[in-house]
Amino acid sequence: MGTGLILGIESSCDETAAAVVRSGREVLSNVVSSQIAMHALYGGVVPELASREHLRNIVPVVREAMAQAGFGYADLDAVAVTAGPGLAGALLVGISFAKALSFGLGKPLIAVNHLEGHIHAVLMQAASSMPQTEPLVALVVSGGHTHLYVAHQVEGLWQYRNIGRTVDDAAGEAYDKAAKMLGLPYPGGPWMDRLAAFGEAAAVPFRLSEINRGTQQEPTFDFSFSGIKTAVLRHMQLHNMQAAAEERRRAFSSFAVLTLDDALTLFEPSALNVIAGFQAAVVQNLVARTLAAARHVSAETIVVSGGVAANSALRNAFLAAASEKGIAVSFPSPALSTDNAAMIAAAAWSRFAHGDFANETLNAAPQLRLGQA
Ligand code: KG4
Ligand code: ZN
Repeated sequence: MGTGLILGIESSCDETAAAVVRSGREVLSNVVSSQIAMHALYGGVVPELASREHLRNIVPVVREAMAQAGFGYADLDAVAVTAGPGLAGALLVGISFAKALSFGLGKPLIAVNHLEGHIHAVLMQAASSMPQTEPLVALVVSGGHTHLYVAHQVEGLWQYRNIGRTVDDAAGEAYDKAAKMLGLPYPGGPWMDRLAAFGEAAAVPFRLSEINRGTQQEPTFDFSFSGIKTAVLRHMQLHNMQAAAEERRRAFSSFAVLTLDDALTLFEPSALNVIAGFQAAVVQNLVARTLAAARHVSAETIVVSGGVAANSALRNAFLAAASEKGIAVSFPSPALSTDNAAMIAAAAWSRFAHGDFANETLNAAPQLRLGQA
């Protein structure tokens, strides 16, 4: 009889994370060391610096996760690690460490897809509070990904079909790029979210293109966010808004911490309208495509995860639209919405139960896909 304890390790992008989760549900520890402050100096994630920081942080982060869980390494049933997708050098730090640990301990090693982890961040919390009907539709929306999946279980193992994806930028990436144009610091998504409430979306309407790579019988529910980025830039050029953005950039870089009130004094109403218009268009698009996918596969459960799932307008719009359609929608708690290792340990649970283990040949898979297209 095992203990049900899985140590999860995540290092795919800019967070070094480790967590101990019991039976895929109960989070005993969830330690995340974020590199955001360092990458913010460069306006985005710098891969070489990310690998170096993971190397520096992996040992203390894992130790802390074990200490907080209150168990010893001998009590673990397995070690789970993110195999991809992500930055090759960053993934390798977690994978090498997990391999060494699992072989040193004589415990199974489990490879987890980061995107499946994001979905399980919601499933592990929602299961107790919400009836989960299958198939369910999952929207994974972050700085690196915008994917729609249909998921269901076969003998306890989750199967995925990728029925939509962005054909260019991820939604979070578009948020960050638009924010940057407007003079906001990286990552700009959370700032855009907070500032949008102070603008008039109808004053600057943006439209997103409808993409469908599929057929009439087998449609796909795709996204494109690079057009709106260009539209924001064009709007700013047309209305001479760039000098003010440059001034904000300087102001933001000279403050260590800026409150929302401070930030608001730096924004003219027309810039707040751009933010509101951007957010309204992106949120409308994400919600409409996800609901269309759910309708197509007759799903009554939607899970939304990834960094952008923290967006308040997105949450409200999903809740409103879903309740109107009689669909249940769940989001991760804030702690589990951005990259973490609890979601990796949770996703590993059914693989553990099925004896689906990795071996010493496990390698980083930067382009790893989830499910069939
Ligand atoms: O999942 P995540 O932490 O990292 C990966 O990209 O995997 O997602 C980070 C992304 C960033 O683009 C960030 O700007 C965006 O999520 N984000 C938000 C919000 N919070 C985080 N975007 C819009 N509104 C938010 N509240
Ligand atoms: Zn992620």
